[in-house]
Amino acid sequence: MPAGVIGMGTYVPEKVITNKELETKIDTSDEWIQTRTGIKERRIASGEIDTSHMAFNAAKEAIQDANISPDDIDLILVATVTPDQPFPSVSSMLQHQLGATNAAAMDISAACAGFIYGMVTAKQFIDSGAHNNVLVIGVEKLSKIVDWEDRNTAVLFGDGAGAAVMGQVSEGRGILSYDLGSDGSGGEHIKQDEFLRMNGREVFKFAVRQMGESSLSVVEKAGLTKEDVNFIIPHQANIRIMESARQRLELPIEKMSKTVDRYGNTSSASIPLSLKYDLEHGKIKDDDVVVLVGFGAGLVWGSVALRWGR
Ligand code: UT7
Repeated sequence: MPAGVIGMGTYVPEKVITNKELETKIDTSDEWIQTRTGIKERRIASGEIDTSHMAFNAAKEAIQDANISPDDIDLILVATVTPDQPFPSVSSMLQHQLGATNAAAMDISAACAGFIYGMVTAKQFIDSGAHNNVLVIGVEKLSKIVDWEDRNTAVLFGDGAGAAVMGQVSEGRGILSYDLGSDGSGGEHIKQDEFLRMNGREVFKFAVRQMGESSLSVVEKAGLTKEDVNFIIPHQANIRIMESARQRLELPIEKMSKTVDRYGNTSSASIPLSLKYDLEHGKIKDDDVVVLVGFGAGLVWGSVALRWGR
């Protein structure tokens, strides 16, 4: 039986920061942000809401959606570059908070491709028979590492969490193929000192090339053609980068996920936040072929082709 998603949950903080509000704090404009990135607003977690808090809320919803209980979870994988602290891991904190007494736990550091890395890791454990129900979470509190005086980055990022319970699904459904990669030679283009620093133009070029190639490669690895793909969920970093991936698969605009306008770039949380949003809005149906593709600091990338449904 193949590995696939059996439950989804998300969480975003209540506080909204609009482009208009940013205009009052830094030298930017709503017009620049919307035309260059597609972002209109983002969610920001207040001081007391940390990464584990957001992850917990998304996880609880995913477990409920999967119709299982926390002690059925046997592995927790949390993809994040903004953990509450270096250790204990967010996944171990969650294991305790959820009462997932039978779960092993580890965090994954693959930046904006983290959720894809988590899904693919979960698939290996499920395929091998080692684990049955794996909780995979992408969660970030990027607001705590953003330099709010740097207009190159302050307008881009947001906070949030998305969680999936992965387990065995019906034959023909679930993850059909995947592609993971890393090019550490570009590591300097996004890194963290005290704050997140980025050479946007270099990352843009890398993203356009790699998102397209990786998306195509999973379609081919699954033995499918572009015509078989029903929907694409690109990492929600910038509408122009997302568009380039969509065009490589020759999909019409309505077959691409878009939540970047409302959440900005939430790094590892962006793909699961989008997936849940699209499910709720009826954009993905059982047996649709969906391509998920992410890229980010490392530099790394990852894609998955899956046939939706339990
Ligand atoms: O999740 C992965 C993380 N990162 C990314 O995905 C980022 C990928 N890169 C991008 O999305 C884009 O490169 C950005 C949105 C970051 C920048 O867009 P761009 O079209 O590549 O702009 P640019 O860096 O070439 O800058 C164009 C101009 C510059 O002014 P000059 O030098 O031409 O006078 C910037 O200083 O826009 C200026 N600029 C801004 N203006 C108003 C940069 N940021 C802003 C801003 N508001 N917030």
